[in-house]
Amino acid sequence: MTKKILITGAAGFIGSHVARLFVNQYPDYHIVNLDKLTYAGNLENLKDIESAPNYSFVKGDIVDAAFINELFEKEQFDAVIHLAAESHVDRSIKDPLAFVYTNVIGTINLLNAAKNCWQADYSNKRFYHISTDEVYGALGAEGLFTETTSYDPHSPYSASKASSDHFVRAYHDTYGMPVVISNCSNNYGPNHFPEKLIPLCINNIKNNKPLPIYGDGKYTRDWLYVIDHARAIDMVFHNGKNGDTYNIGGFNEWQNIDLVRTLCKLMDAKLNRAPGTSEQLITYVKDRPGHDLRYAIDATKINKELGFYPSVTFEEGLEKTVEWFLENEEWLNHVTSGSYQQYYNAQYK
Ligand code: NAD
Ligand code: DAU
Repeated sequence: MTKKILITGAAGFIGSHVARLFVNQYPDYHIVNLDKLTYAGNLENLKDIESAPNYSFVKGDIVDAAFINELFEKEQFDAVIHLAAESHVDRSIKDPLAFVYTNVIGTINLLNAAKNCWQADYSNKRFYHISTDEVYGALGAEGLFTETTSYDPHSPYSASKASSDHFVRAYHDTYGMPVVISNCSNNYGPNHFPEKLIPLCINNIKNNKPLPIYGDGKYTRDWLYVIDHARAIDMVFHNGKNGDTYNIGGFNEWQNIDLVRTLCKLMDAKLNRAPGTSEQLITYVKDRPGHDLRYAIDATKINKELGFYPSVTFEEGLEKTVEWFLENEEWLNHVTSGSYQQYYNAQYK
């Protein structure tokens, strides 16, 4: 069936993989990528699909309500897959308001525009909000986040994502908007912006720079290969139940220090360096304020109801990721030039 789908934030890390999957897999859908092109948005991520007949790009800000309303009036979207966000916890600690504007106000602007266009007849419409496991707060050594775990966000980033999740549910409960939400764990893979742990370490190992480990390095995350996240989003978009939430995870918990040591071994092999060379770059630095100890997802629901399971192991995914970064030196040089250096110097001074 023909559909016009708005994907917000598709010039970013996860959004670009979602747009690619939809453009290639569904020739009958027209995908409109709306992105402000912040420091994290990069059209180089979409070079292979930029000329596809079923893809177009609109530059714009979801915080601008008038612009969003006009875009919806003009395009008459059938569905929205909303990924645009400020996504970096460390940046949220420095500038919380930017997160309120984009993640909260921006999401409400999209909900309002969709409601205005769709409220006469909600059939065959869908507003899909992409969220994070960080809304559930921090786990101790035991336990997993399920879809019914209470929200308990700690960082300005996770507080803004929690707020946006609540608004999406409120539009379902109050106005009957057909919505679905998924809350995913940490992604990694090609096109990952090198302020985040894995690509930052790949870039620093390559350049023989210190690998900054916050606190004691025992913080734990559940890692999912980004292309598997895009597959899960495809499943939830097409088969998820209206009003429902799906947790997405990798069944793949790692303490940061163990993950970085594994990455060092892999990089030594790929760069023909003597075993143990890159580990010497590990440097313990000041901890992140309010650092959540452990995230881990119980992904039973999406597995049982929609049949999702990650397609690659962490070892396979990490190797593909390292190879991508080593083969895409130009991409890495572009995104780490200019303002990246200013951010880096301020964060790790
Ligand atoms: P990202 O930072 O790489 O990309 C975000 C994109 O949104 C960029 O292209 C940026 O230009 C765009 N954007 C930012 N503000 C905008 C605005 N005001 N108007 C229009 N576009 C704007 O983020 P990501 O890592 O790809 O995450 C995408 C989504 O997935 C986010 O909602 C994030 O909360 C969620 N998420 C991320 C992860 C992860 O591990 N990266 C895990 C779970 C959920
Ligand atoms: O859990 C999902 C979330 O994962 C997403 O919602 C976020 O958008 C995404 O950025 C990610 O958040 P994290 O804060 O977990 O990712 P980050 O890569 O910034 O950090 C991963 C872990 O590594 C975390 O425990 C902090 C630590 N860290 C990070 C950096 C950048 C370091 O020890 N040193 C670093 O330099």
